[in-house]
Amino acid sequence: MTRLSGITPSGHAHVGNYLGAIRRWAREGAQGDLYFVSDLHAMTTAYHPQRLRARARELLATLIASGIEPNQVFVQSDLIREIGALTWLLECTCAYGEAARMTQFKEKSGTDGKIAARVGLLTYPVLMAADILLQGADEVPVGDDQEQHVELARALARRFNSTHGEVFTVPRAVTPRAAARVRDLADPTRKMDKSATDAAGVIFVLDEPDMVRRKIKRAVTDGLERLEYRPDDQPGLANLLEILAACLGKSPREVADGYPSYDSLKDAVAEALIEELRPIRTGTLSLLADIDHLDKIRAEGAIRARERGQHRLESALRLAGVG
Ligand code: TYM
Repeated sequence: MTRLSGITPSGHAHVGNYLGAIRRWAREGAQGDLYFVSDLHAMTTAYHPQRLRARARELLATLIASGIEPNQVFVQSDLIREIGALTWLLECTCAYGEAARMTQFKEKSGTDGKIAARVGLLTYPVLMAADILLQGADEVPVGDDQEQHVELARALARRFNSTHGEVFTVPRAVTPRAAARVRDLADPTRKMDKSATDAAGVIFVLDEPDMVRRKIKRAVTDGLERLEYRPDDQPGLANLLEILAACLGKSPREVADGYPSYDSLKDAVAEALIEELRPIRTGTLSLLADIDHLDKIRAEGAIRARERGQHRLESALRLAGVG
C-alpha cells in the first residue's frame, strides 16, 4: 500500500498543517510512502518567485525535521514534465462543472471574481489528481479541506480507466481523528490558513516560544466561562481544547475537565505546543543551515519519484492514443 500527500509553500507551515497532516505522515508513514512539497500549487494566485523557492526549501526541511524519512520526500516541480503531461490527460477527462464546483475555487476566486481568477486556480485539483495518480497512491492522508479534491481524483481515475483501460489506482482520502480542521485563533469560524492576511490567529511551526505564548493568550474564547467541549456554541474554546488534545494524545472532552479557567487552559495549550514544536523548529533550522545536504536529499528524491511514476505515465499516454 502506498500513501502520498503534499503541502503547498503558499506560506509557512502552521499548527493546522502540522497536527492535521505532517505529524501523522511522519508517525504513520511506512516504507514506500511519498510526501512532497507541492510548489506548483502555490502559483495559482499572485506570488513572488524567490519567496516561493525559499519556502519550498523551508517546507522540505520541515517535513524531514518532523520525522519523515529523507528517502520519502520530493519537490513537485522537479517532476514538472511528468506531472504536467499527466495533468493535461486528466484535464481532458474532467468536466468544467466538476472543477468549478470545488469549494476552494469558489472561495479563492471570490475576491477577484471568477473571470479574473487564473485558470490554474480552476484546474488545480486536476494537478493534484495528477500528483496522486502518477504515483499510484492507495491512500491520501489529508485534513478535511482536501477531501473534496481527493474525491475528484477518484472520479478521474475511474473515468480514465473505464474509457481507456486500467492504469490508475483509485485512491481514497484518510482524514485524522483529531485536528482535522484547526481553526484560526483570532476567528474560529475560519480554518487556520497559511495565506491568512492577518497572522495573529495563525501559529507557525517556526514561531519562537514567546510568539506562541502571545498568540495563544490573545486567542478568542467565547465568554461563557464554561470549560466544556461544545464546538457549535463555543468554537474558540473547542479549538484550544482540540489543539491541546492533539498534543497530549487525548480527546478534547477529556482535557476539558482538567482546567479551572481560560487562563490556566491557555497556559497549558501554549506550553504543550511549544514542546511539540521545539524539535521541529530546531531541526528545520539546522537542516536549512546545510543547504548542500538538503539539495542532495531533494535531487535524490526527484530521481526516485520520477522513476516510480514513469511507467504509469507512459501507459496512460499510450492508452490515450498519444506520445
Ligand atoms: P495545504 O498546503 O493547504 O495543506 C497541507 C495539509 O495540511 C492540512 N491542513 C490542515 N489540517 C488541519 N487544520 C488546518 N487548519 C489545516 N490547513 C491545512 C491539509 O488538509 C493538507 O493535508 N493541495 C494540497 C497539497 C497537495 C496534495 C496533493 C495533497 C498537492 N497535491 C496530492 C495530497 C495529495 C494543499 O494545498 O495542502
